[in-house]
Amino acid sequence: MVDYNVNGKVAVVTGGTRGLGLYCAEAFVLNGASVVAITSRKADACAQSKKYLEDVAAKNGKKVKIISIPADLTVEAEAKKFFDDVASQVDRVDIVIANAGASWGAPLDTHPISAIKKVLNLNVVAVFHTIQLFAPLLEKSGTAEDPSRILIMSSVASLAANDPVGTYGYLASKAGVSHLGKNLAVQLGPKNITVNSLAPGFFPSKMSAGLLEAAGSIMVDTNPRGRLGVKEDIQNATLFLCAKQSGYINGIVLPIDGGAHLNNPSSKF
Ligand SMILES: NC(=O)c1ccc[n+]([C@@H]2O[C@H](COP(=O)([O-])OP(=O)(O)OC[C@H]3O[C@@H](n4cnc5c(N)ncnc54)[C@H](OP(=O)(O)O)[C@@H]3O)[C@@H](O)[C@H]2O)c1
Repeated sequence: MVDYNVNGKVAVVTGGTRGLGLYCAEAFVLNGASVVAITSRKADACAQSKKYLEDVAAKNGKKVKIISIPADLTVEAEAKKFFDDVASQVDRVDIVIANAGASWGAPLDTHPISAIKKVLNLNVVAVFHTIQLFAPLLEKSGTAEDPSRILIMSSVASLAANDPVGTYGYLASKAGVSHLGKNLAVQLGPKNITVNSLAPGFFPSKMSAGLLEAAGSIMVDTNPRGRLGVKEDIQNATLFLCAKQSGYINGIVLPIDGGAHLNNPSSKF
């Protein structure tokens, strides 16, 4: 039997109040983490998600501390304050999921430059800043046998160039952040930190709702596995890449999309 777990680990998930980030946080709660710290901009969302994760823990007999701190990670001072607040409440950090992200779609000729800047600022610059802040703590807790983990929430948009709705900044940001992950994997691997990227396909969430509605059934019809992604798809991949057994995997971009990025018809809606 193989037991993938994060027993005793301290995990940080940015954008952990809903969608894919909350899935990751829940996977850590259910699989042994001692502390899970989440953040997003909205204080009410932080409070609600903290309660949700505490309820999940209580229902499943798990003892875990949930830290939930509002912060806009595109504002340098707020990112630093988030780091300081977490660091003051934990004695180690083992896992960072740089998940917070956003998208914007508009035709090329009317695409606002401000939207491109906003997307790149969150999806690339804030990911870099988060990793920069937490790297020293990750280095302290990583070992040769069980390195600390950084997972970057990239996208299959980093692998394919299908873009029926003009998400120019999003595609560039995800390709960029996947490459940032490879760069950091080489640099941080010797410091007992692995850096891998997840590349999800389409998962229903607040962010993907508009695009999925516009696409109709084509995302399912052209997906080799015949469905959209579900919570467990993200949770299983996250858990595996944060478990002791995967400590030799470093610098990958893992598609979690049923093979959709290999099937071009999905670009034609
Ligand atoms: N859903 C998909 O199909 C899909 C596919 C591929 C990749 N992804 C990636 O997965 C990640 C999560 O996406 P999702 O679909 O779960 O989106 P989502 O439901 O919109 O969640 C985004 C999360 O990020 C937080 N956030 C947004 N701006 C922030 C900021 N400036 N500072 C701090 N937190 C911020 C949001 O909370 P607040 O609004 O309270 O800040 C929320 O918790 C993104 O990086 C996305 O690109 C998603």
